[in-house]
Amino acid sequence: MAEFNDWIAGLPKAELHLHIDGSLEPGRLLQLAGKHGVDLPYADEAAVTAACEFDNLDEFLAMYYLGASVLRDEEDFYNLMMDYLTKCRTQNIRHCEVMIEPQTYADNGVPIDICMRGFKAAVNDARREWGQSCLMILSIMRHAPEEEGIKTLKAAEPYRDDFIALGLASSEVPFPPAQFKRLYELAASQEYRLGAHAGEEGPPGYISDALDLLHCERIDHGIRCAEDPALVERLAREQIPLTVCPLSNVRLRCFNNMSDHNILQLLDRNLCVTVNSDDPAYFGGYLNENFQALHAHLGLDKVQAARLAANSFTASYLGDAEKARFFEELEAY
Ligand code: HPA
Ligand code: ZN
Repeated sequence: MAEFNDWIAGLPKAELHLHIDGSLEPGRLLQLAGKHGVDLPYADEAAVTAACEFDNLDEFLAMYYLGASVLRDEEDFYNLMMDYLTKCRTQNIRHCEVMIEPQTYADNGVPIDICMRGFKAAVNDARREWGQSCLMILSIMRHAPEEEGIKTLKAAEPYRDDFIALGLASSEVPFPPAQFKRLYELAASQEYRLGAHAGEEGPPGYISDALDLLHCERIDHGIRCAEDPALVERLAREQIPLTVCPLSNVRLRCFNNMSDHNILQLLDRNLCVTVNSDDPAYFGGYLNENFQALHAHLGLDKVQAARLAANSFTASYLGDAEKARFFEELEAY
């Protein structure tokens, strides 16, 4: 076990499904609550950790949005991003794609310029200091009307070059992909790459609709595809990447236990599945801990882990030359 965990720690890999607000650790959360005078129902860090028990996605999201309400100034956003990028460095996450959710901050009276100044400064510093590769994804809230998402896309226009892709997150049911067709058409016209959460709590039809109505090239979660054999075949045939988040799926009760998780069955069927942490500060682990949990409970071996790591670079929004550089690194490892 220890030998495998050390090997995983050194494995070059990419993380493609990470909500930056989900990396807000209890210590930083309480520090910022104190700094800005935000009243939180947690006496100390242990109380925050103890509150991370959820029966479903919406229960988690209530805590997640409350947490994000302590982020107010440029320094907060810089530190949040730098905390995560530093974690990438220690976990050998050679490339990451981070979801930014400006609607959450706007709801707290914080304009997009404040968050983007902080996030961009941290990304630039990490790139310069240790060559961290990082792309940002503009993630839209599906619990808000499509019109709000379109306004956010407009507000992000000055930052068009800072976002590689558009995403769709938050409460999944009952907010089907069909409600966001205009938003995705607009983003496509601005040459955003396209992804969306689908098939986490929502039915397999949400995955097909994300592909056919929104023209997504990548699906976040997607685990409920297993309920539709024809869809599984399609995902394999078209090599549509799924950014799967094992610890998140168990914490949010998509599976009762890690031993019930279907990621290795999907890998066996030749789907382009990847491992990700989603909201590591809330779900008990970063990327390496997700791989380690798959090893401990599903017997993930090195060959499978290396395939998952290769998939993470294949499924990334990087260009071919950058992918080739990471494949070489992986090969050498
Ligand atoms: N699903 C949808 N929205 C989210 C998630 C998730 O797992 N985490 C943070 N926002
Ligand atoms: Zn997510």
